[in-house]
Amino acid sequence: MQAKITALGTYVPERIVDNHYFESIIDTNDEWIVSRTGIRTRRFASEFEYTTHLCAAAVENLVEENNVVLDDVDFIIVATVTPDQIMPSVASQVQEKLGLRHTGAIDIAAACAGFAYGIILANGLIAAGTHRKVLVFGAETLSKFTNFEDRTSCILFGDGAGVVLVEATPKGNILAGVTGSQGDGGKDLYMSHMRKQINGQDVITDNKIHQNGRAVFKWAVNTVSAQMPLLAGRAGLTLNDIDWFIPHSANLRIIETLCSQSGFPLEKTLESITLFGNTSSASIPLALHRGLREGKVKKGDKLMLIGFGGGLVYAGVVLEWDV
Ligand code: ACO
Repeated sequence: MQAKITALGTYVPERIVDNHYFESIIDTNDEWIVSRTGIRTRRFASEFEYTTHLCAAAVENLVEENNVVLDDVDFIIVATVTPDQIMPSVASQVQEKLGLRHTGAIDIAAACAGFAYGIILANGLIAAGTHRKVLVFGAETLSKFTNFEDRTSCILFGDGAGVVLVEATPKGNILAGVTGSQGDGGKDLYMSHMRKQINGQDVITDNKIHQNGRAVFKWAVNTVSAQMPLLAGRAGLTLNDIDWFIPHSANLRIIETLCSQSGFPLEKTLESITLFGNTSSASIPLALHRGLREGKVKKGDKLMLIGFGGGLVYAGVVLEWDV
């Protein structure tokens, strides 16, 4: 059997935070944030709203918008770097909330590449014949791990969740995948609660996100622009055949640079950065959902999704949209 994405759902918390909010807590302004990142607003979860809650709301939306049955889901993957706690997993908490009794459940940590990693893993489970129906979430409450004294990073992050249902069918729609890791860049983007070093560099142990923005920016544009034609090639396509490119929404300038470096048309990209900020593993499903709602993505379109982030890691898939 092959794997096919058959449904999508998303959720963002109610609280909208605009750029002016940051003018009252750090030395910044709306013009800098818009021109350097493209972000206009982001959503923040409420005090007692955690990643598990965002996942549950996203799956509720998936059921509302799609004619699907979840009773026989047999595996749940939650891609997140902001779990409610390290143990138990968010996936097990979601399993409990959904009342599913016969399903495996794991969290995976691949930062902003997590959603694409999750799709690749679900594809493998189904192709191996061990599982038939997998929920893959990308969900984050980054606002709970943001250092609001660091103006270079706190303006970037937002909270949100997306989920897809991946099912076994005779003819799938996941055409190709790619994964990669460059651990020596781990020191450039981390969140740690333990005293240690990452690649010889002392880490700050406040359990908040620390980032060397320029280093990550450079790595992201060089790595992803090189992978784009290779990934298309793995699907037997060229970049000209891709209808919509959905890179991780880390920064609008990263998306613009990816397009100029690869020659891909900017108007054929989908993003969630302007409305929702950088939502890490949730950014790709949020951008895809927006593209669907706006009537841009149509049945039969070829989509290229590429996530990249803390690790440093990347992962990408090519899909033929068929929902
Ligand atoms: N407001 C005003 N000025 C600021 C702000 C701010 N919020 N933040 C930084 N500045 C200043 C800096 O101090 C610097 O001033 P200086 O020239 O006097 O020293 C100037 O603006 C330029 O700073 P840069 O760091 O060079 O700004 P840059 O254009 O690189 O933008 C940013 C910073 C937005 C962080 C960018 O580097 C970026 O988006 N990086 C990639 C982030 C990313 O992709 N992360 C991966 C995913 S996240 C995850 O995995 C959880």
